[in-house]
Amino acid sequence: MSEEDTGRKWIVLKFGGTSVSTVESWQNILSVIRERRGDGYRVCVVHSALSGISDMLEEIIERAPRNNTGDLVEQVKQRHDKLGKALDLPVDELLKEDFDELEHIVRGIELIGEASYRVQARLLAMGELMATRLGAAYVRRELEEGTWIDSRECIRTSALKNVSERSLILSAVSATDFDRSVLDRLNEAGNLVVTQGFIGSDEEGKTVVLGRGGSDVSAAYYAAKIGAERLEIWTDVPGLFSANPQNVPSARLLNHLSYKEAQEIATNGAEVLHPRSIRPARQHNIPIHVRCTHRPELSGTVISDEASDDEALVKTIAVRKNVILISMESLGMWQQVGFLAEAFEVFKQYGLSIDLISTSESNVTVSLDPGLNSHFHDIRESFVEDLSVLCRVEVIESVSAVSLLGRRIRTILHQLGGAFEVFEEQKVYLVNQAANDLNFTFVVENEQADRLVRQLHDHIISQSGNQQSFGPTWPELMGDRETTGREQPLWWEERRGELLDIAAESGPCYVYDRETLKKYAGLIRGIGPVDYALYAMKANANPEVLRTFREQGLGFECVSIGEVRRVLDLFPDIDRKEILFTPNFAPRSEYEEALDLGINVTLDNIYPLQQWPELFRGEELFLRIDPGHGHGHHKHVKTGGMHSKFGIPRFEIEEVAGLAGELDLSIKGLHAHIGSGIKDPLSWKQTAIILHKVARQLGGVEILDLGGGFGIRENDTEAHLDIRELTQSLAQFREAHPEYTLWVEPGRFLVAVAGVLLTTVTQLKGKGKVKYVGVDTGMNSFIRPALYGARHTIVDLSRLDEPNSQSVNIVGPICESGDKLGIDRLFPQAAEGDVVLIANTGAYGQVMSSHYNLRPPAQEIVI
Ligand code: LLP
Repeated sequence: MSEEDTGRKWIVLKFGGTSVSTVESWQNILSVIRERRGDGYRVCVVHSALSGISDMLEEIIERAPRNNTGDLVEQVKQRHDKLGKALDLPVDELLKEDFDELEHIVRGIELIGEASYRVQARLLAMGELMATRLGAAYVRRELEEGTWIDSRECIRTSALKNVSERSLILSAVSATDFDRSVLDRLNEAGNLVVTQGFIGSDEEGKTVVLGRGGSDVSAAYYAAKIGAERLEIWTDVPGLFSANPQNVPSARLLNHLSYKEAQEIATNGAEVLHPRSIRPARQHNIPIHVRCTHRPELSGTVISDEASDDEALVKTIAVRKNVILISMESLGMWQQVGFLAEAFEVFKQYGLSIDLISTSESNVTVSLDPGLNSHFHDIRESFVEDLSVLCRVEVIESVSAVSLLGRRIRTILHQLGGAFEVFEEQKVYLVNQAANDLNFTFVVENEQADRLVRQLHDHIISQSGNQQSFGPTWPELMGDRETTGREQPLWWEERRGELLDIAAESGPCYVYDRETLKKYAGLIRGIGPVDYALYAMKANANPEVLRTFREQGLGFECVSIGEVRRVLDLFPDIDRKEILFTPNFAPRSEYEEALDLGINVTLDNIYPLQQWPELFRGEELFLRIDPGHGHGHHKHVKTGGMHSKFGIPRFEIEEVAGLAGELDLSIKGLHAHIGSGIKDPLSWKQTAIILHKVARQLGGVEILDLGGGFGIRENDTEAHLDIRELTQSLAQFREAHPEYTLWVEPGRFLVAVAGVLLTTVTQLKGKGKVKYVGVDTGMNSFIRPALYGARHTIVDLSRLDEPNSQSVNIVGPICESGDKLGIDRLFPQAAEGDVVLIANTGAYGQVMSSHYNLRPPAQEIVI
């Protein structure tokens, strides 16, 4: 076929939602189109809905059956109206029909009380239709050419066997062969067309959509069907990176990837490129260029078949969060012919697609990618029941798959030896080496995943000398603070001036914001099903902080007699039952004093009852139970399970019950605390269920204290604990068990965000590529980074408005290599005397400080 025949003169440009939502980006889009046209190409622009619109449409679908869409439809219209006006387009004329159609569909759903898949597809398609209507009109006016095409004329999808109706309509697929009719349609339209991503039509000509992120896939279909010269994916990031730059600022741009590598990276969690968009391009050998709309001058990542080099290399460390593991345990399963076939048949019946597999003599564990198995939670119970006929089943959630991706990894395993040291701190649930040798995956807890990625990246990629594959870092390319993605200013941003003054006067100091303390106390008190909250004062024992929480009506959880005494000194009139004493391996004398004081005493070991029975005879006590599992941001802070020193194991409960009878004890409350920094909102309900079981064994228990451990958003890359879901789950427990009073005892959640550590830049140093910013206090004031690898947001408060143009290590003056407050951080060009702020240091900051090196730790100030 000649070039004319195959359409080799066409280039497909795909622009994502953020790229088509502002006037500035549209100017960049114009200049890209102009350039391609200037080079003699015909241009097919495929674009998405405006950013956020697809989410709004999904919400409408959810709410419309209950007549509850509020002003969402109006908001959708306004977003288009606003952009249209900003582009100086006649919006009413362009969008009238679409707006009418939108309202018509929504009214239909409201009337019928449900949205069929067909109706959902039609509604979702409106986002792309409206956006491209504006895009095409703008391009046409500015460039004096450009034709709007309805993608449903070109992207015909096929009915596949064994595929659900839902998938056929909401996650449809199209053929990837060259398609003369599509090429003719485009040729006929001219040299420049604008069309929609994400939408198509089925064999009956009805609207279907290609699933979330489907615009990339549409663009790849177009490229394949018309045999384009190149597919350009324009997004809001400058290409694919060796790790997510939000988590790892020193991640390097990947200059070039083969299709296979790109497929592996896209499939394993890089959200830049839809995994389904690679195959169509690969089939026709069409290079894909991934580029940044806001920075069109950057060359981005090129994906093609031209092998740039063949060196064995790890190119990316990717992570997929919230993977689900199904562990199947059965003795001697390998002797049973057909075990796996039968087990996998159950997965098939429930439409679950398996990702990773690892096997041993008696166990097979598989992972489910939540993206592909979103219905898992609906079918979970009956699925587990059916599978349990064959073997013992355990569902493990809240885990992440961390993958080393590259090529010929098997041949360089020996070089990775040093990197594997980082697994010393990890519980690894599953290890999987892909048969294609492009992928080595470890499944670890969600809470550990980001840190593991950083450590592996540091060991494997930062130390690689390969300049050909690895390009510049994000800060080198972008030189700005685009990675923070935060909506509301934080308290310390608002009070910046005050903080700078305080730092200048006081030297290194912790500053606590009283209003934020109150805000977080309010969040905890707002958890309806919880009757009473105690503050775990080990997190921060500052008297002003304690006073604030007292005013907010919180009680106190104390781990030592010293903490108890501080509470009593400050609040001599406090009702003694508002104090819960929960020591661990404390001497006998502390229990004596606590009982004399009349505060609630918790035993977390059978030993005191066996060895000092008379001390406890006739007393009312709490017992701390080890529920058998721990959770938390680091292995040091998991306080449940065999390897933790806390709590009474459940196998000792009978014996404890016997002793309680002999000693005439009344077990008033049960307590459990499984760890710190937990983000799984269901964790406390699980604890409640276990405590309830123990309470049934003991009888007479009134209070269940579910512990602390409420996680917070530690830095810009993390999510907050979902308090709403936590509340709902506890409400369910409450409803089932109204007989108990429920307590919680958070520490970190209440104080962390309210505190910042201020310190001042002393010296700068550069060792080649590695740069150090030295500050006047370090691990003597704040040991969490050294002890747990904790990653706190760190900013140069004196230069908040300046671009973060480098990646640095922020280090203190202490005589230890571990004296690092932040490793590999985005930072501006700092100078001596700048004030550096370390955020979220209100918890376990000052209380864990020391005079090491005879350097006094930071003092505390409450504002
Ligand atoms: N209750 C008990 C019995 C505890 O042992 C703890 C913390 C808490 C409540 C409060 O946990 P929180 O809500 O603060 O997570 N130094 C570590 C944390 C150690 C936590 C010790 N126990 C860190 O900086 O992460």
